[in-house]
Amino acid sequence: MTAQTSVSELPVVIIGAGLAGLTVALHLAATQPVIVLAKRQLEEGATAWAQGGIVGVLGTDDSIASHVQDTQDAGAGLVDEHTAEFIARNSARAVEWLVEQGVPFSPDPEGPLGLHLTREGGHAVRRIAHAADATGKAIHDVLLAEVKRHPNISLRERWMAVDLITDRHLRRAGGPGATLSPTDHRCHGVYALDIESQRVETLAASAVVLATGGAGKVYRYTTNPDTSTGDGIAMAWRAGCRVGNMEFIQFHPTCLYHPQERSFLITEALRGEGAYLRLPDGTRFMAAHDERGELAPRDIVARAIDFEMKKHGLDHVWLDATHLGEAFLKEHFPTIHARCLSLGIDIARQPIPVVPAAHYTCGGVVTDLSGRTDLPGLYGVGETTYTGLHGANRLASNSLLECVVLGRTCADDIQAQSRQMPVVLPGWDESQVTDADEEVVIAHNWDELRLVMWNYVGIVRTTRRLERALHRIKLLRSEIDDYYANFRVSRDLLELRNLVDCAELIVRSALSRQESRGLHFSRDYPRTLPVSFPTILCKKPKKKDAWLP
Ligand code: FAD
Ligand code: SIN
Repeated sequence: MTAQTSVSELPVVIIGAGLAGLTVALHLAATQPVIVLAKRQLEEGATAWAQGGIVGVLGTDDSIASHVQDTQDAGAGLVDEHTAEFIARNSARAVEWLVEQGVPFSPDPEGPLGLHLTREGGHAVRRIAHAADATGKAIHDVLLAEVKRHPNISLRERWMAVDLITDRHLRRAGGPGATLSPTDHRCHGVYALDIESQRVETLAASAVVLATGGAGKVYRYTTNPDTSTGDGIAMAWRAGCRVGNMEFIQFHPTCLYHPQERSFLITEALRGEGAYLRLPDGTRFMAAHDERGELAPRDIVARAIDFEMKKHGLDHVWLDATHLGEAFLKEHFPTIHARCLSLGIDIARQPIPVVPAAHYTCGGVVTDLSGRTDLPGLYGVGETTYTGLHGANRLASNSLLECVVLGRTCADDIQAQSRQMPVVLPGWDESQVTDADEEVVIAHNWDELRLVMWNYVGIVRTTRRLERALHRIKLLRSEIDDYYANFRVSRDLLELRNLVDCAELIVRSALSRQESRGLHFSRDYPRTLPVSFPTILCKKPKKKDAWLP
């Protein structure tokens, strides 16, 4: 049976409580009621795991042009210059705003704004503000505390957005003869699963913001947290929005290699401060791959490690920071020092075993610089989006920056919109489903999908492997769709459904790029074409789903 939910007051619903979501919420809450959803605990997400820092063009030796140039160099010809310039120009203000909120960045009395700036691969100068090696947690703790105090913000922990409510849902609920007006063609809200009660609720909204993070969990080995299942990308795609540059999945070069431990990032700032990559016999190998050595952009370093591991039959290479000294390492990298020590690795005396792992989704939902997507009323901010900033490979520490700069412009744009008239939204229909009979099927499909992506859609690709992956993904999709249609939804099932959508978008984008560029390297097309464009995928509208005036 379809229940009807009527609404009298419409808040803005923000899906995600990472840096993107919290920034939008804090800027909006002065004028509007806001609901923030987080599908797991509020503290969980990539933001709290960020280590290296956030870019700020602050130093006297730095300039906006220099940061734009580095972003473009890393992005291998696909960076949108206007986006990069806008974000670089707003970077100092972004870092200042975080300082005003109370973020305890590592100090340097001689530094700009009194901050210590570090360096990472691809950056010409020191321009990264950081809180030792746990920058993300320092930022997230402060903003989350602020959001919790705000009377206009309602936090819904363990609420998972399932799908966006569009005019398609209104028409279905109204029956075949339902008439819709042009203002109905928009995002009206979201269906969200309250994980505690296992009920799917209907949330009407004046605007919905996707701030759900990346899709790193689509790979077997990743630096990402469990929340990174590409939900925003998949929801927007299903709602008819364009998705861009999904082939560009960034593999971070240095993830701790430990057979028993979950992947743990070893920050690039360690190489920025002088750590070396070595083979088991102690040889440094990066100079043979790029003149910038250990400080080359990530795509180059990750590919070099992959090459050396395959050439020498290694499980990992070594990252050697021993020459930096114990006192320096403990002061600047206390988290990594302690974590490695707990696993029996004293980084002041021993090199660290490292491997590349999936780290960042450079593509996503196409948005403009105000976070607007193709669907009126639907916005996107943060790792879930494609804005043109990252091109074919993201420059280190540009991600947190993008969340803060575009989080603000997104809030400004929402504030400038006229208020929506409430509409009656159809409730979630559970009349045709029963409880799942075999949960184990979902677990198996999760494992299979992640392994297929790791084996066939990794750092070095071939057309044959991509086609094989697509074939497997299609089989998995039909099983999952069947499951979704017949059984009550759970978080695992919803995440798997979203991951399959993202996997398909990644593979289709990779197949359509007939060259090697940035993070996409194909053995069948090793050349970089002289001219290239972003990959923008657009869903063919089903006739019955199209908006009819
Ligand atoms: P996230 O912080 O991932 O937040 C996503 C939120 O969405 C979470 O609250 C999650 O629960 C919620 N969510 C997801 N799906 C749903 C759903 N369906 N319903 C409800 N809620 C949902 N970048 C830098 O610039 N500098 C760094 O130093 C840096 N270090 C990094 C280190 C690590 C280990 C990792 C993994 C990433 C790092 N990055 C870094 C990248 C950066 O941290 C992320 O890109 C950025 O934090 C993303 O922020 P976000 O708000 O978009 O998403
Ligand atoms: C790191 O600290 O190496 C990660 C930085 C980033 O992903 O931007």
